[in-house]
Amino acid sequence: MAQAVRMLTSKVTIRCGSTFRNGARARVRSLMTSCSSRCPSAVSALRTVVEQQLEEIHIAGTWKSERVLRSAQAVQIDIRGHDAGLLNFCANNYLGLSSHPEVVAAGQRALERYGAGLSSVRFICGTQELHTQLEEELAAFHRREAAILFSSCFDANAALFETLLSSEDAVFSDELNHASIIDGIRLCKAAKYRYKHLDLADLEEKLKVAQSHGFRLKLVATDSVFSMDGDVAPLREICQLAEAYEALVFIDECHATGFIGATGRGVDELLGVSEKVTIINSTLGKALGGAAGAMLKGGFTVGPQPVVDLLRQRARPYLFSNALPPPVTACALAALNLVDDGTLAQSIAEKTRRFRSQMSDAGFTLGGKNHPICPVMIGDAKLTSTIAEEMLDQGMFVVGFSFPVVPRGAARIRVQISAAHSNADIDECVNAFVTVGRKHGLVA
Ligand SMILES: Cc1ncc(COP(=O)(O)O)c(C=O)c1O
Repeated sequence: MAQAVRMLTSKVTIRCGSTFRNGARARVRSLMTSCSSRCPSAVSALRTVVEQQLEEIHIAGTWKSERVLRSAQAVQIDIRGHDAGLLNFCANNYLGLSSHPEVVAAGQRALERYGAGLSSVRFICGTQELHTQLEEELAAFHRREAAILFSSCFDANAALFETLLSSEDAVFSDELNHASIIDGIRLCKAAKYRYKHLDLADLEEKLKVAQSHGFRLKLVATDSVFSMDGDVAPLREICQLAEAYEALVFIDECHATGFIGATGRGVDELLGVSEKVTIINSTLGKALGGAAGAMLKGGFTVGPQPVVDLLRQRARPYLFSNALPPPVTACALAALNLVDDGTLAQSIAEKTRRFRSQMSDAGFTLGGKNHPICPVMIGDAKLTSTIAEEMLDQGMFVVGFSFPVVPRGAARIRVQISAAHSNADIDECVNAFVTVGRKHGLVA
C-alpha cells in the first residue's frame, strides 16, 4: 500500500540533459505529459523505479558523466568548459587515424558516391562492393579464410556464440573478458565454464572436468588484451591447452588489431600462434580509425569460411540490423591501407616504450607490460579523481578508473598512447604527472 501511494504521489520531474535544445525539450515534456494522462499509475511507477536506480548510482559514486568534445577525435581536442587544445591521452585512437586526412577524404568520397546509408540489412539490398572489398581485405590482413562485418564488435561478440554453439557444446571464458563476450556467451545454450583471470591451471581444471561430458565442440574465449590493465593473454599456453583437450580458441583483438605484433596483425602474430587461433573478433572503432565520438565504427569476425557463411545465415545482429554505412566502410578501407605495412605499429611501440620508461624512472608504478594502455596505479579512488582533474589543469586529458570498474583499492589513471603523439607530447604528459604526483607525495 505504502509503495502504491508513493508511486501515485511521486513527483513528475523531467530531468532533461543540457544537450536537449528547447524544441526537443518541449517535445519530450509534451510526450511525457500525454503519456502520464493516458496511464498515470504505470508512468509514475516507471519513474519511481528508474529514479530509484539513478539515485543508487549517484550514492554508490559510480555515476559516469560525459565530457563534450567540440572537436574531432585527435591528439589535441577541445572539451566544452575547458581551455582549447588539451592533449588527449585517453582515446583508443591508437594509430591516430580517427581524423587522418586520408581516412576522412575516403569517407567524403564514399558519401558523395554511395550516399549516407543503405536503409537495408545486408541480405535484402544492403550489400555494396565496399562491404565485400572490406571483408576480403580484413580476412587477408588477419590471414584468415573469410571475414564478415558487423555494426560493432559488441554485435560480433553477441552473434558468435549463439550462432556456433548449442547445448551439445561448451565454452570456457576468462572471468575478466569484455562485457560483450560475457553477454554473447549468456545468449548461447552451451555449457559455460568461467576460469580465473589468466589462470592456466584453472583453465586446465575446467577443460579436464568438461572432458568427461563428451561435448561436440569446446571453445576457449579470451580477450587478447584486457583493456583495464593492458595485460596480454598467455595465448601460447592457452593454445597448447586447447590442443591437448581438443578445444578451439577464439580471441577478441579489439586492443591489438593494427598495432600489436611485428606488422600489427595482433597478439596472435606477437606470440606466433596465428595458426592455432581459429576465430578472431575485432573492431573498426579503435586502431583502425575510430574511437568514441568518431564516425568510424564497426566490428568483424574473421575465421574459417564455413563459420563466416553460417554467421551470414544465422547471426541475429547481422541479419536484423542495417548494413554499415558506405562512408564508414570506406574510412575503414583507407585505415586498413594505412596500417598494412606495420610502420604505424612500430611508431606506437616506440612511443609506448618512451612513456613507460620515463614514468617508471620518475617513480610511478604502471600496470601491464609494453602495451599502449598504461595504467598509472594510484590505489585510492578519491586521490585518483583529484589527480585526473589536476592533470586537466595541466592541459592533459586523462581519465581515472575506480571501483567497480576495477577492483577496490586498485584505482588508476588509464593513459593511452597513440602513434600520433609526438615525443614532445609524451614528455609533456610525464612532466605533468611528475608535477601533480609530487604535490600529492606520490613521487619524490
Ligand atoms: C575487448 C573489447 N571487445 C569489444 C568491444 C566492443 O567494440 P565496439 O566498440 O566495436 O562495439 C570493446 C570496446 O570497448 C572492447 O574493449
